[in-house]
Amino acid sequence: MCGVIGYTGRRQAGPMLVSGLRRLEYRGYDSAGIAAHTADGIAVRKLAGRVGGLQGLLEREPLAGTSGIAHTRWATHGAPIAVNAHPHTDCTGRIALVHNGIIENADALRELLQRDGHTFSTQTDTETLTHLIERAEGDNLEARVVAALEHVVGTYGIAVISADEPGKIVVARQGSPLLLGIGDGEYFVASDASAIVEQTRSVVYLDDGDIAVLTPDRYHVMDRDAHVQLREVDDVTWDLAAIELNGYAHFMQKEILEQPETVRSTLRGRLMFEEGCARLNGLNLTLADCADVRRLTIVACGTSWHSGLVGRHIIESLAGIPVTVEYASEYRYGPQLRQPGTLTVAISQSGETADTLEAMRAARAAGSRVIGIVNVVGSTIAREADGGIYLHAGPEIGVASTKAFTSQIVALALLGLYLSESRGLALERRQDFAWRLAQLPALVARALALEPDIRVLAQSLVGQGAGNALYLGRGVNFPVALEGALKLKEISYLHAEGYPAAEMKHGPIALIDEAMPVVFVAPHDEVYPKVLSNMEEVRARGGKIIAITTEGNGDVRRLAEHQLRVPATAPLLSPILTVIPLQLLAYHIAVLRGCDVDRPRNLAKSVTVE
Ligand code: AGP
Repeated sequence: MCGVIGYTGRRQAGPMLVSGLRRLEYRGYDSAGIAAHTADGIAVRKLAGRVGGLQGLLEREPLAGTSGIAHTRWATHGAPIAVNAHPHTDCTGRIALVHNGIIENADALRELLQRDGHTFSTQTDTETLTHLIERAEGDNLEARVVAALEHVVGTYGIAVISADEPGKIVVARQGSPLLLGIGDGEYFVASDASAIVEQTRSVVYLDDGDIAVLTPDRYHVMDRDAHVQLREVDDVTWDLAAIELNGYAHFMQKEILEQPETVRSTLRGRLMFEEGCARLNGLNLTLADCADVRRLTIVACGTSWHSGLVGRHIIESLAGIPVTVEYASEYRYGPQLRQPGTLTVAISQSGETADTLEAMRAARAAGSRVIGIVNVVGSTIAREADGGIYLHAGPEIGVASTKAFTSQIVALALLGLYLSESRGLALERRQDFAWRLAQLPALVARALALEPDIRVLAQSLVGQGAGNALYLGRGVNFPVALEGALKLKEISYLHAEGYPAAEMKHGPIALIDEAMPVVFVAPHDEVYPKVLSNMEEVRARGGKIIAITTEGNGDVRRLAEHQLRVPATAPLLSPILTVIPLQLLAYHIAVLRGCDVDRPRNLAKSVTVE
């Protein structure tokens, strides 16, 4: 998922575009490039690799101009090499374009355009757009862009400039996020607010089908028929510090260690202790609506899917409503059964994940009410859902999701508590659960105090050259085993699998020997005795056991080489604590292996294409 940015105004565009691109780099970092209106027409600078490399190139070959566009790439079509880097130009070099998304009919368009005599210089789907615009009729750039897009099937967030209209940037959105930044005599376009918040906090979120035209003195938004569309100007609520490292070595480290505050922020103003219920005003779900809910379908991807699995346990236990948790990418192409009384919950940190967005749209088309549990304010899922719960966890920059996971579980627990009120759950139980939630920030801080022990454990595992790992858990902590394995995989590039502890006997146990670290997520809860037996089975095969368990629990000492004890809490909430050591373990192993923790290879923070 690429990062797109553009600027037109009175200041030099280069420096602002490059600093904005740095903030978008978590969206993709295969190549970077910039194009600007200069005295000699349009000039382009691009290369494979990081934005830092582009900065160096611009120091060697400066670009003077007060309007331009820039891009950081996550390669989909065409290898991550310099020639495929954006911006792309047409045959004349008078049109330049940057794009986030996928042009699904690119092959057919390429054939058509080549037959028309256009010469292609890249392997990308995007280049078809520059030639389509070059070929299109129209009095001005926006008219030609609209005409060109008539032929396009796919998703895009694009910004286009032409040498014929210096200072003008034309923007179009279909399926990929884009917003405008409104400054004083200057305007921006960007994939998300982090790229421009240093310059302005006034933003306009574009909708699918929007075309925007930016010039140094004004901007307007219109539809494909050139009818002006009025769009609200919103204010970005978080400040620059939220997207600065502030002395931490990595954003992932910062985001792990700020979880006592982010959990507190997700709870803020949402617990009513006397009444034993949650206040969730943004949900747009009255108690009567809750009473009509017969089933819940959770749709999500990756870490968000793991939090959904924990949410199922909480909501079924508190509210007695059956919950299914679907991989959004599978759900959206599955049979959409019309089942009255279905509430669909789309969980997404970014609020832009294409599969989750489309799964939510498919559920709505099948008659379901849809709510979003989202972190990014103003994101597409948040704006399209019937209601929702914002995490208020602040921007999450590290590609590996951490604080969003714990806040998602807190939000799901609040939803469970909210629904339980209409399901007759006893007041005492609801009050107790509300109190347990309120204690979490302090308990998370205590779990984080394990970091020194975890750093030592990471050193010994890396020292032993462990190349694989197995993560096992039961019940509400099985998803934590999945999450622990995912964290290790995505940032340290070590292979790891998460499994229900009992399921281990049906195959994975064959993998166990002295070299296989086996991480057990084993808090003291109702399934704990069963987990102990699974530990015995692993121990019998010589497996090296690392146990995440509850403070005061001595049992595991005789079975596990390493024990990490987290504070006790309500069993349904224990994943918020048991995951902390696993986040830290993955982080320290990745650091020790010299991996780029915040920008792991082949990954991007928000997957806005299929
Ligand atoms: C998690 O660390 C990954 N970055 C990834 O699995 C992520 O959870 C997934 O892409 C879903 O993203 P979302 O929550 O923004 O929708």
